[in-house]
Amino acid sequence: QQQAAESLYILNSFAQKFFATQLFDTEEGQNIALSYLEERGFTNETLQKFQVGYNPQARDAFAKAAMQNQFSAEVLQRSGLVVNRNDELIDNYRGRIIFPVHNNSGKIIGFGARVIGKADKAPKYINTPENELYIKSKILYGLYFARLAIDKNDECLLVEGYTDVISLSQAGVENVVASGGTSLTTDQLRLIKKYTNNLTIVYDGDSAGVKAALRGLDMALEESLNVHLVLIPDNEDPDSYVRLVGAQGFKDFVAQNKKDFILFQLDIMLKDAGNDVNKKNEVVNHIAETISKINKAEDFSKQEEYIRQSATLLRIDEGGLTNLVNKFI
Ligand code: GTP
Ligand code: MN
Ligand code: MN
Ligand code: MN
Ligand code: MN
Repeated sequence: QQQAAESLYILNSFAQKFFATQLFDTEEGQNIALSYLEERGFTNETLQKFQVGYNPQARDAFAKAAMQNQFSAEVLQRSGLVVNRNDELIDNYRGRIIFPVHNNSGKIIGFGARVIGKADKAPKYINTPENELYIKSKILYGLYFARLAIDKNDECLLVEGYTDVISLSQAGVENVVASGGTSLTTDQLRLIKKYTNNLTIVYDGDSAGVKAALRGLDMALEESLNVHLVLIPDNEDPDSYVRLVGAQGFKDFVAQNKKDFILFQLDIMLKDAGNDVNKKNEVVNHIAETISKINKAEDFSKQEEYIRQSATLLRIDEGGLTNLVNKFI
């Protein structure tokens, strides 16, 4: 097991160097991949910091190089970098930009591979399959680069994608990690909690990401995180938005628009319920259950504050809501 993990680390490190060389030092990499990344505004310094690379279009450019360096077919396939097609080992990420994923000590545990330009038929991103190192539920992309800034700012911004993290970091907003757009897991929340209690989710305004984030809410409360939400407007995402308005504009937007997540959720549910009495009762129950998840031992006054604010929004009696909350505990 230990050895299996070790051989993957060694292969991933070899692969990262190979892909970086392909991106910066070959004509194909420069013409196809580097020019695309530069067009998107990424500087060489940023690309080097995040160890971005390029896997050439040839069937087996990487597989060949790896086998010349004595890596076994077995570890090549386990890494997800190479796949067996009709008994031939070929590159899995042909013609894609490669984003290495690091663990907390900076070792590479896997990769995200993006098509260049628009994704027509192929998936836009391919990620490393689950293996000894790459355990999706425990990964936050960018945490290795962000943790000092998260600690310093006492806040962690959570975005959806690789390019959101890299773009914000380049702009000087460094306390940022990505979830890959899926719902948060308890393990990921605990990783954040090592550095801060304040989580601010910064997602695209389109609803898929928000729904994924909402699913993580109760878990976040159980972990005693203070969760806020900001939605990026007008079909932008954090990457495109920070390029549009600049670093200060982005920081101001987040500061001015971040909403308390519980109250945000209540607001959505209330609008949805309208004048329907049954639906409104469901909302009351739901919010009482959510508030009951707040870890009282760590934060008693916080629960009281939420009961107060929610009762006001719901136009119900505070004492009644308190009783209901206590029923769920
Ligand atoms: P860019 O288009 O390069 O700016 O990336 P993005 O991060 O803005 O992409 P998008 O908002 O579409 O998706 C957010 C995140 O979801 C990505 O960074 C990926 O982690 C993940 N994702 C997007 N598309 C795919 C896909 O086709 N397959 C998988 N496995 N993950 C994807
Ligand atoms: Mn701290
Ligand atoms: Mn996006
Ligand atoms: Mn994007
Ligand atoms: Mn607040």
